[in-house]
Amino acid sequence: MKFDVFTLFPEVFPPYLDSSILHRAQEMGYLQVDLHNIRDWTTDKHHVTDEPPYGGGGGMVMKPEPVFAAVEGTLGDPPCCPVILMTPQGELLTQEMANSLAEYSRLAIVAGHYEGVDERVREHLITREISIGDYVLTGGELPTLVLIDTLTRLIPGVLGNPQAAEKDSHASGLLEHPHYTRPEEYRGWKVPEILRSGHHAKIDRWRRNQSLRRTQERRAELLSNLDLSDEDQEFLNQLKDAGSFDPGNKSASE
Ligand code: ADE
Repeated sequence: MKFDVFTLFPEVFPPYLDSSILHRAQEMGYLQVDLHNIRDWTTDKHHVTDEPPYGGGGGMVMKPEPVFAAVEGTLGDPPCCPVILMTPQGELLTQEMANSLAEYSRLAIVAGHYEGVDERVREHLITREISIGDYVLTGGELPTLVLIDTLTRLIPGVLGNPQAAEKDSHASGLLEHPHYTRPEEYRGWKVPEILRSGHHAKIDRWRRNQSLRRTQERRAELLSNLDLSDEDQEFLNQLKDAGSFDPGNKSASE
């Protein structure tokens, strides 16, 4: 999968892209990220990329010309692939959206900055606007990395274990079950007996129940979109009858 990233701050990307799984994905040829500095596409002496907004109100707005020039100069006119703008006003990024975006072989991402981009960029260049959550960051660079990371781990072959992405929180619509590794006992806290039993069917059922429990306790709204088996439903009913509650928040439960 190839990403063309358009940004005023290309220097923030390599430290993350050149580490861990994203680094390996690039080495193995699964991922290519081309960074384009929007400032390189300015034509004025001072390389201006932003100006105050018409109508006043403070803040700065990214000018349209360098953004159009950068994207069209790189991807053609019209651009050869979807052009995404990372903005808090966009559609919320979900695993479902990530699964469908992962079908593309090439995506362009514009990382907005300052107060935003000139509306003509959104209207005539951008094909999709995406937000990573209902909070506002100083720019679209971290959201761009979040999107690249989320999509890269869905590329077949990128994760060592091919089932890893399928088992993730959200992949099945449920939050993931708890994980344990060695040592068997730490500060008196033991790994649940069942996980050491070697009984795979029972382990699978325990994990499924833990996923159901977590989802019910932390994100109950996710359960309403799912087709649950009778066994799942029975477990959830038992939970409700027992009235157990774990808000998934340490300070609230201490
Ligand atoms: N830019 C600033 N905040 C953002 C957010 N929450 N999502 C995407 N882009 C952003």
